Amino acid sequence: MNKKMHIDTHCVLEYDGKNFSQPHILPIYATSSFVMQSFEHGEAVFTGQKQGQVYGRYGNPTVDEVAAKIAALESHGMEKQAFGLMTSSGMSAISTLLQSLLQNGDAILTQEDLYGGTTELFKSVFPAMGIRTYFTDLKDISALEVLIKNNPDIKVLYFETPSNPTCSCLDIKVLADFAKQNGLLSIVDNTFCTPVIQQPLQLGVDFVIHSTTKYLNGHGNSIAGIIVGIDEARKPAIWKTLKLMGGTCNPFDAWLVHIGMKTLGLRMEKHSSNAMSLATYLENHTKVSKANYVGLKSHESFETASSQMRLPGGMLSFEVDGGYEAAKKCINSLSLAKYAPTLGDVNTLVLHPRTSSHLNVDPAVSEKNGITQGLIRVSVGIEATEDVLSDFENALNSI
Ligand SMILES: Cc1ncc(COP(=O)(O)O)c(C=O)c1O
Repeated sequence: MNKKMHIDTHCVLEYDGKNFSQPHILPIYATSSFVMQSFEHGEAVFTGQKQGQVYGRYGNPTVDEVAAKIAALESHGMEKQAFGLMTSSGMSAISTLLQSLLQNGDAILTQEDLYGGTTELFKSVFPAMGIRTYFTDLKDISALEVLIKNNPDIKVLYFETPSNPTCSCLDIKVLADFAKQNGLLSIVDNTFCTPVIQQPLQLGVDFVIHSTTKYLNGHGNSIAGIIVGIDEARKPAIWKTLKLMGGTCNPFDAWLVHIGMKTLGLRMEKHSSNAMSLATYLENHTKVSKANYVGLKSHESFETASSQMRLPGGMLSFEVDGGYEAAKKCINSLSLAKYAPTLGDVNTLVLHPRTSSHLNVDPAVSEKNGITQGLIRVSVGIEATEDVLSDFENALNSI
């Protein structure tokens, strides 16, 4: 402390960092900007001659470390290392990536049964920017070929597998090859699986996005997202859109994802085994007309899922007999499982898609895709299996 300085100046002074040891765990850099060591250093960093942090919206050591870790997981086992850019939410990852890849007049090709928020973004926000979306059945490759031929404005193929909430799967390799052959960039929302279960980049996809809010964090205490890409040359343009649109991730949320990811492998195994037990129980229940889970042989996507997913994951949905009223009674009778509009947490969570996530989706489209009034989505947690089963047994008995 410089005793000659006024006490008011001492209040303002920052730490000098000299007494710091190397921390065992990644620290949270709660700072909006970074001090330049000198004029020359500042100039070198700003002009890109030297690597370094400048301003929190441009990058932050905590956020960048977590982004690099998720990118490394997505490209695990590949020769090439992917790059990652964390965003303020999953929606920010989707909108930032697409805004950086598309221009006024371009179009997106996607499926009808996307996450409701993504559908709404494509339908009610992007058109004002001159970006339109073609929603269609992505399993019908010959129909896609005709669509592409007739609509040269399509530049991007965007998809989710398994889909939310019916767990319908798309063949990633087939679609990645199709995109390449037709000069499209491909993007997969890998939120439901995480790289522990499924690695779309390995199957030829150009970009993966996540709502890290879900399984990557796993504990329901952080909202964030990530864009992962395999072609490093694309990073500067995406980063520029991210920093100028301002969808940067904050370091505390990134740090919570970092801590959560340490148990990701363990969690995904337990989510999967619990979900398998619950799906098997539900499939055989007299009050359940349908159980959607990719681990069940009866599911339409069993083969596709088995070919590209290491584990069946923790997401399932089931349809109770009696529609809306029966679903309401069942959800209200659960006690361990909570009704919360998120997924991927260690706790078992349920949701009624038609009155929540899919509220703004055309009811006819929802019905066509199996999202009926009796459908309940379950994000199966990692509690003891018997407690999860008995909770659903009690709830179904109440109908
Ligand atoms: C599959 C999927 N993708 C993207 C999102 C959007 O993520 P966020 O809520 O972090 O913006 C969600 C949110 O529920 C989702 O389920």
